[in-house]
Amino acid sequence: MSQYDQGLTVMLTAEQIHRKVVELGQQITRDYAGKDLVCIGVLKGCFPFLADLVREIELPLRVDFLGVSSYGDRTKSSGVVRFTSDLSKPVEGLDVLIVEDIVDTGLTMRYLLSNLKTRGPRSLAICTLLHKPDRTMIEVELDYIGFTIPDRFVIGYGLDYAEIYRNLPFIGVLGS
Ligand code: IMP
Ligand code: MG
Repeated sequence: MSQYDQGLTVMLTAEQIHRKVVELGQQITRDYAGKDLVCIGVLKGCFPFLADLVREIELPLRVDFLGVSSYGDRTKSSGVVRFTSDLSKPVEGLDVLIVEDIVDTGLTMRYLLSNLKTRGPRSLAICTLLHKPDRTMIEVELDYIGFTIPDRFVIGYGLDYAEIYRNLPFIGVLGS
């Protein structure tokens, strides 16, 4: 971690994240008992969260991924959402849980929801680790939220700045 020591402020520690992921996993386990759960991770930012979350869900489940890109390499949303990869299997008749790192403006989530709805899932819900309500442009109902955070650009635990920092075990802010 030493190479990151300068210029990073920790917002959420690995321990805080872990405790929240356990809590979310327990809620999802209760809510999805007896259902046909498929967790759909939104790449690339979801990968640590999804990997940790599914291991806290004590149910048979499937995992699939969607790739979307909305940011380019900047810290402001372009508003243009683009698929970079699609699901490997149909989700018709399944209970779909979208797993996201962060919902910021809501533009990406609106696009994902409208696209996934056309594929005939039995149910469709959202689990996001982070939510930045100050930046909402599109209201979407979020079924599971890890942390509500202020309007700061965060990195780590899957979140990047210009593709770097995804491997940090905590969530931080650039600068102090
Ligand atoms: P939205 O479409 O504005 O809700 O943004 C969704 C995507 O923007 C997220 O899935 C992230 O990939 C990216 N994003 C939004 N805020 C941040 C941030 O603070 N740090 C890193 N990525 C972010
Ligand atoms: Mg993302």
